Amino acid sequence: MSDEQAAPKNAPPVPPAGAGAAVPPTPQPTPPPLQSAPVAPHEPAGLSMAPGGALGEIPDAAKLGTHATNFRFPDHFLWGAATSAHQVEGDNTNNDWWAWEQAGKVAQPSGRAVDHFHRFREDFDLAQAVEHNAHRFSLEWSRIEPIEGEFSEEAIQHYRAVLMALRERHMEPVVTIFHYTLPHWLAAKGGWEHPRIERYFARYVQRVAHEFGPAVKYWITLNEPVVQVFKGYLIGQWPPGKSEWPAALTVLRRMLRAHVRAYHLLHEARADAMVSIAQHVLALSADDPHRWSDRLSVRTRGYLFNELFVDALHHGALRVPGLFWERLPMGRTLDFIGLNYYTRDFVRNSGYDLPGLVGGIAARDHRAQVGKLNDLGWEVYPEGLATFLRRFARFKLPLMITENGVPAVDDEDRWNFIYLHLWQVARAISEGADVIGYLHWSLLDNYEWADGYKARFGLIEVDRATMKRRLRPSAWKLAHIIRRNEL
Ligand code: FCB
Repeated sequence: MSDEQAAPKNAPPVPPAGAGAAVPPTPQPTPPPLQSAPVAPHEPAGLSMAPGGALGEIPDAAKLGTHATNFRFPDHFLWGAATSAHQVEGDNTNNDWWAWEQAGKVAQPSGRAVDHFHRFREDFDLAQAVEHNAHRFSLEWSRIEPIEGEFSEEAIQHYRAVLMALRERHMEPVVTIFHYTLPHWLAAKGGWEHPRIERYFARYVQRVAHEFGPAVKYWITLNEPVVQVFKGYLIGQWPPGKSEWPAALTVLRRMLRAHVRAYHLLHEARADAMVSIAQHVLALSADDPHRWSDRLSVRTRGYLFNELFVDALHHGALRVPGLFWERLPMGRTLDFIGLNYYTRDFVRNSGYDLPGLVGGIAARDHRAQVGKLNDLGWEVYPEGLATFLRRFARFKLPLMITENGVPAVDDEDRWNFIYLHLWQVARAISEGADVIGYLHWSLLDNYEWADGYKARFGLIEVDRATMKRRLRPSAWKLAHIIRRNEL
């Protein structure tokens, strides 16, 4: 989810006038060949020849069949898709998002979602059919601890069955502990602003670690904490609907500390656990690249939104240069870095206090160099992914793409998106980034928070009237890449 959408919702997936300089407006990747390609040299010429500059040259996908690059992904690369409980399970009536929907704050209520709660085996069969060897999903806190301090054995059994179903299909679970939704009882107490939230979170994590810890290696403690703080506490678009900088800072600090506690609990349950958060990374460019203040805002906003949280967990201190410094109980509480990447925004400075330095999102319409817009009006900007993989490589930790996807009714757009982004992943790996997996958002069409059901993110199309599933052609095309582990 782009963290602030200035472009009109539902913009049609057509390239704006003048598109093409930065990103080919209508990329047409050649589908993977059906015969198996020869084993590729590790650093294919097509990638290493990308000319210098920060971003290098954008590949002309029309000319780049998969056999043209023959890039080989690392052995044991994790390939799969991601979901989150509230977006797919259905009837999560006991959390703050459900209440938010019922209060009419969003386009549509989630209702039965896509009934994944009852159909997960069928959905995993489909994922297996298209070669996925990993799957990211989230535990729903409001099901596991529906009443304060009381854990539901039934819910725990359910997630045990989910994990078992993945194991039976040889899919590595990547488990998110908190993906935006709080149980009612906790939201009613003030949620992340409650002074004892870290303890509440730790109690939940302790139970989860005890129940599932031995069976799960990859954990995501918090999904996109900074997006949640921004949407929930700065622009008031998500629960609890506030616009207060002090509250935002309080919540941010508590989320950091909550992660640190969770990190230890998960490692107690399994020494070789790999723990991270999922960090949303949003590419940013200056509204006017010649304006110094816009460039300053790109840096400020970029640090706060894209880097601060990971930086704090790694170094053991929350640092906002010139403004704030606070030590965390300890550093090095990331075993890998999960990155969620979707799009780019243009930033315009609006002053020299903190909100001004963060700036605002500028309209895109006047731009010549803008990529194709997706169904929600977000720009398709694949090279941003390589930029972030390169930038986060400095932490010297494995990187996992925990989300990357596109709302697209036209499945050809989805395939183009996947192909162009994988090309960027390949490029970053060939430059030395230690990328261990690519999880597409999403396995299924699902409930896209404030945007409801119109956004179609799924490798699997879902007809919500009948709940019928159908694998989209893009899922089969991706399967060819996964099978050969080669682009
Ligand atoms: C991400 C969220 C995920 C989904 C996608 C489109 O920011 O983590 O739940 O909404 O955006």
